[in-house]
Amino acid sequence: MMDFTRKLSFLVFLLSVLISLKNQNAETKKGSWFSSSYSSPFSKAPLSSRPMFTTSKMGMKIQEFHISGSLRYDYYNESCPQAEQIIKSTVREFYKLKPSIAPQLLRLVFHDCFIEGCDASVLLDPHDGIDSEKESPPNESLKGFDHIDIIKSELEETCPGVVSCADILVLAARESVLLAGGPFYPLYTGRRDSTLSYSEEATYDLPSPQDDVVKITEKFESRGFDERETVSLLGAHSTGMIHCKFILNRLYNFGGTNRPDPSIDPEFLNLLRSQCKSNHVSSTPSASPAPTPSPSSSIGGLSSALIQEPGLKMDYEGSGSGFGTLYYRSLLRGRGILYADQQLTAGGDTETWVQAYASDASLFQRDFAMAMMKLSNHRVLTAPLGQVRSDCRKID
Ligand code: HEM
Ligand SMILES: *[C@@H]1O[C@H](CO)[C@@H](O)[C@H](O)[C@H]1NC(C)=O
Ligand SMILES: *[C@@H]1O[C@H](CO)[C@@H](O)[C@H](O)[C@H]1NC(C)=O
Repeated sequence: MMDFTRKLSFLVFLLSVLISLKNQNAETKKGSWFSSSYSSPFSKAPLSSRPMFTTSKMGMKIQEFHISGSLRYDYYNESCPQAEQIIKSTVREFYKLKPSIAPQLLRLVFHDCFIEGCDASVLLDPHDGIDSEKESPPNESLKGFDHIDIIKSELEETCPGVVSCADILVLAARESVLLAGGPFYPLYTGRRDSTLSYSEEATYDLPSPQDDVVKITEKFESRGFDERETVSLLGAHSTGMIHCKFILNRLYNFGGTNRPDPSIDPEFLNLLRSQCKSNHVSSTPSASPAPTPSPSSSIGGLSSALIQEPGLKMDYEGSGSGFGTLYYRSLLRGRGILYADQQLTAGGDTETWVQAYASDASLFQRDFAMAMMKLSNHRVLTAPLGQVRSDCRKID
């Protein structure tokens, strides 16, 4: 039996979830978060045998979220009660000035949590001959470090030495998801920061834009994510920017063939080529001239003006097109930007989930919320392990 305080904190937790859900955008409102059937990311059972997720089972499910002994709801309730509010309002201020911060922080938490868990190891600068994850190739164009520093210094002013960089990262990413049109998800806190950075692991274990569906599912599987969770997490690619260098080979010289990736929809290929010229690739021109669109030209309903250098907008059909949904619909039309994105429709279970999310926005929102919770709890460090850094870039 639960004791009283535990019951109370559980109720507060539940209430906060419900309140946040009430504030969701219209898309999320379409379905009640709790009423339809869906599985816990912590259950490994096949879909068909997964239990209905009903309000009466809520208590049990919430307990399952509590996967790590010392993480708990509102961990800073006494040591720094304003912590979560400060993080939330600071991220919102950044966002007002620069909306691109939201996808940047979301990507950052993926890179942190995927490598040795959510321990803020990605934030460490290289020093004294210690390699940093930041210096591994997949880190390229990771951003948001300065913004984490600003949040951290505000927290250090209010409650010095209390709030970990790892908690800041997951909470800032949650706020970012919400701002980008994604779902709210509850998070426990109490993560601690690593004293190590793992540049080698970051180099080999992070998925590459060139990975095929087998590699992608293997890499996510090795972190405990099944196909459904993997496909839902990739929905993050409905927001943010992508630089041409990640797709040039795909557009001009796929696998050394001197031809584009045949899985790209031809109209979309033209559009991408018009944004990403072949300058960097040795083999191309006459066989595959890059068309120059007039600014107002619209290809298959896409306004090419929406795609700007130096990067491509991943939500190339406009930011009003919805977090997630458009991404999956585009994949079904051969309009994935990265090879790795398009590989999700290469057959098998991942394709089934692409289809499911393309046609059911609220299913996606729920699954994405669950998968983000799982990602944010992945192999966390809790006391007495790790430390609370006073500067997120350096170990104390
Ligand atoms: C197969 C797995 C994945 C691959 C190969 C991959 C690769 C990439 C690449 C190459 C970029 C472009 C970076 C740039 O041009 O600056 C990118 C951007 C991004 N990725 Fe992923 N990613 C993967 C999974 C994820 C996951 C699981 C998330 C989060 C849950 C995520 C979130 C993002 C976001 C939000 C951006 C936009 C960043 C920005 O606007 O600065 N990615 N990803
Ligand atoms: C903070 O949370 C803990 C554990 O849930 C609880 O025992 C404590 O009473 C809470 N403190 C405040 C001030 O709410
Ligand atoms: C990422 O690593 C490269 C070297 O591979 C380095 O030049 C770059 O500065 C790093 N990026 C960040 C954000 O630290």
